[in-house]
Amino acid sequence: MRVFLTGATGFIGSRIVPELLAAGHQVLGLTRSEAGARSLIAAGAEPHRGDLEDLDSLRDGAAKSDAVIHTAFDHNFSNFVANCEKDKRVIEALGGALAGSDRLLIITSGVGMGSAEHGQPAREDVFNTDHPNPRILSEFTGAAIAEKGVKVSVVRLPQVHDTVKQGLITPLIAQTRAKGVSAYLGEGRNRWSAAHVLDVAKLYRLALDKQEAGVRYNAVAEEGIPVREIAEVIGAGLNVPVVSLSQDEAADHFGWLAMFAGLDLPASSEWTRAHLSWQPTGPGLIADLKQMDYSQAAAA
Ligand SMILES: NC(=O)c1ccc[n+]([C@@H]2O[C@H](COP(=O)([O-])OP(=O)(O)OC[C@H]3O[C@@H](n4cnc5c(N)ncnc54)[C@H](OP(=O)(O)O)[C@@H]3O)[C@@H](O)[C@H]2O)c1
Repeated sequence: MRVFLTGATGFIGSRIVPELLAAGHQVLGLTRSEAGARSLIAAGAEPHRGDLEDLDSLRDGAAKSDAVIHTAFDHNFSNFVANCEKDKRVIEALGGALAGSDRLLIITSGVGMGSAEHGQPAREDVFNTDHPNPRILSEFTGAAIAEKGVKVSVVRLPQVHDTVKQGLITPLIAQTRAKGVSAYLGEGRNRWSAAHVLDVAKLYRLALDKQEAGVRYNAVAEEGIPVREIAEVIGAGLNVPVVSLSQDEAADHFGWLAMFAGLDLPASSEWTRAHLSWQPTGPGLIADLKQMDYSQAAAA
């Protein structure tokens, strides 16, 4: 299958490329730069020049392909709401190119969208339409284009990690370095789920091969790691004290991360594992954080 992959040069997308190629697929990878095009060619993919702001370039990539995996996102969190709206336009454009065909569009979301009951792990069969994260717009848009005849499935992600990058933990490390203390809120018992980036890449490939629409997958290897444990390993890595903060102190310490710092985000992948025969093999988040080179990591 020829797969149009947005975000092909990103942390996760660049790991999806070899996973797809090894399974016998061809990859048309979106890139907005010459350097990105060169790296895609070196990886064995075909570059497709375009931009999330240039919707025609996205329609064109989708039109040339048998399926689309959408992982690109503008991660400038100071513009998070606007960037979620941009993702809506992108999903609509990709959907517009695929409507009425049997070509699958896989979009990306976060595991939090499946959390409904307090303290219970998020699940694939739950869509919490009241979730306060503006990223919920991606899933609303996926549902809207499905109504118009697009085959859509959703991959929901936790903190995706290796020994270099770890989702929200990467900016958290930068913030810890800037503040000189590693912090958690209250007792730090709120949990974040996680998965290794290679396991996540494999899951996208299995979802593609399954060709099923109308389903959500939780790419979760570890159901919930207490944030206090994460703060402790970062504190040890950066050699700074580890402290508990009150809610009132959160905004000053965490900056834009304050909206995530206290969230309890456990998530289950029981259904995904069974449905896709997906067996994550790790390593785990804490192991990767222990192995990280903190002299390089998230240097501000
Ligand atoms: N990493 C995580 O733990 C995590 C957790 C939850 C959800 N997610 C979601 O998973 C997806 C992939 O995340 P990631 O960690 O791989 O992100 P990333 O490393 O920041 O990569 C983002 C990708 O989007 C591309 N991109 C950004 N702005 C673009 C634009 N204007 N035009 C074209 N391409 C553009 C980037 O291209 P350049 O190479 O040109 O910059 C890059 O390929 C995103 O939707 C993200 O929100 C990730």
